[in-house]
Amino acid sequence: MNTNLAKHTAAHAEAPFLPGPILLLGAPGAGKGTQAQVLESRFAIPQISTGDLLRQHRRNHTHLGMIADGLMSKGQLVPDDLVNQMVAVRLCEPDTRPGFILDGFPRTLAQAEWLDGFSPDCGPLPPTVAIEIRIDETQLLRRITGRRTCPSCNRIYNIYFNPPANDELCDDDRTKLVQRADDTEQAFHKRMQVYRDQTMPVIPHYQSTGRFRSIEGDAPVEAVSAAILAALRQLRQEFPVGGAL
Ligand code: AP5
Repeated sequence: MNTNLAKHTAAHAEAPFLPGPILLLGAPGAGKGTQAQVLESRFAIPQISTGDLLRQHRRNHTHLGMIADGLMSKGQLVPDDLVNQMVAVRLCEPDTRPGFILDGFPRTLAQAEWLDGFSPDCGPLPPTVAIEIRIDETQLLRRITGRRTCPSCNRIYNIYFNPPANDELCDDDRTKLVQRADDTEQAFHKRMQVYRDQTMPVIPHYQSTGRFRSIEGDAPVEAVSAAILAALRQLRQEFPVGGAL
């Protein structure tokens, strides 16, 4: 099959399927960012990572960035009202109209309840669907301490599991990779504690709506992506995006 025909066939196969707004939930290092990037390129909808947005605020020395700075390096959460406000602004940008992937939000029950009631001025949201990437805690430390990120395009690598071709440079744009300040063993243990105490209660919240699936995350990236795609297809049969987008 020639390439154009292959692309046409793939686009045709995808045509009836609109993923709409997706929430990716899971512990630090579970693979939310990695999978959000896969979904972003597959469906041409934006990844909205609250961690990335907050890191951008830190780099720009905004008021929010200064508040977030100390909290993030200690592995603590940024206050709900500040994060909700940041997300509200982002969700009104026009690129979110065909759908979006929220990566790392909601992270508390209060954030989830806020999102349930959120009705943007720019038009109603279709029902969100939530995917939990589930993984045993013992697998996570090497994922966190081995992670390297491209500061230019945000592509995620891992020196143990998914290294770049050249040790230190992004395969896509040759930028020098960086390690996140909170990717230390000490900060990881704090982040896990915060996850257990504050974020895990979000899981039963979405389970109770039915708009939820849990995926095994301890598998190769491609296998996790395939499981997420299958879950999204099922969820969107039950909860279609409809005409709202
Ligand atoms: P954030 O940036 O959201 O961090 P996180 O939730 O702790 O998640 P991570 O980014 O660490 O992991 P991930 O699940 O995205 O995994 P990844 O795909 O990178 O938040 C940082 C901080 O910001 C928070 O601690 C908080 O202070 C603040 N914050 C953010 N959102 C907030 C909110 N809503 N409210 C309040 N505060 C907020 O993968 C990890 C590694 O594993 C990578 O190296 C990757 O290559 C590798 N990997 C991925 N998948 C696989 C696989 N299948 N097999 C092998 N390796 C894999």
